[in-house]
Amino acid sequence: MAEKRRRLIAGNWKMNGLRDDGLSLAVQIARRGPTLKIPALDLLICPPATLVSLVVQAVAGSPIAVGGQDCHANASGAHTGDISAPMLADLGCRYVIVGHSERRADHGETDSRVRAKAAAAHAAGLVAVICIGESLAQRDTGQTLDVIAGQLAGSLPQSASQANTVVAYEPVWAIGSGRNATVEQVGEAHAAIRRTLLERVAGGGAVRLLYGGSVKPNNAKQLFAVPDVDGALVGGASLKADDFLAIAAAVPS
Ligand code: 13P
Repeated sequence: MAEKRRRLIAGNWKMNGLRDDGLSLAVQIARRGPTLKIPALDLLICPPATLVSLVVQAVAGSPIAVGGQDCHANASGAHTGDISAPMLADLGCRYVIVGHSERRADHGETDSRVRAKAAAAHAAGLVAVICIGESLAQRDTGQTLDVIAGQLAGSLPQSASQANTVVAYEPVWAIGSGRNATVEQVGEAHAAIRRTLLERVAGGGAVRLLYGGSVKPNNAKQLFAVPDVDGALVGGASLKADDFLAIAAAVPS
């Protein structure tokens, strides 16, 4: 029997937003999100660290969850500028993104570093949203499935379970490019990721799998119809309440 998984639409605001914009966006999502009335749908927003507190307060009392965009592998210590998973949990976060391709590229994060971060998230009681995805050169040379299987195997900690882990497939070439992967490409990648999850995680059939990369209101519906796509990790379109909510509204009810 196919697993019935809750859907998740997550907004990754990246390094965008000052307090006024962030507050107004969070308030709109908290107010309008619950009116979508799609059963078994979770909404998550991941603001920059500077806005986490403000956003947690803005969505308080609503079902909207808040997450960080990264965490350090250690719980505390001499790591100037970093933020730990317990710090995010302390602010009211329930999720944290780890291993986003922008962090892998900008900060040289390796699979083993991502795995340590995900383990730290789990230890702090957070759900880790583990990101993987191939570059254009890797796709063009036919390495996509090997690359994502390797990234996933390397980035999943022992502590991963269906309750504390979400996997986001984000082809690097589709991020911020306006060029999203085709439904065939997404279907093939998600099926391969599901196979790895079934091998490596107890209850791997229940781990939620998101697609990310130029998800917009006009392509969300077709992406959500792909088997093993349980939602989206949305960048640019998550900065406009109308677009983010339109993407959420495209989730099949
Ligand atoms: P875009 O939706 O802007 O392509 O970003 C996707 C992404 O990186 C989400 O984490």
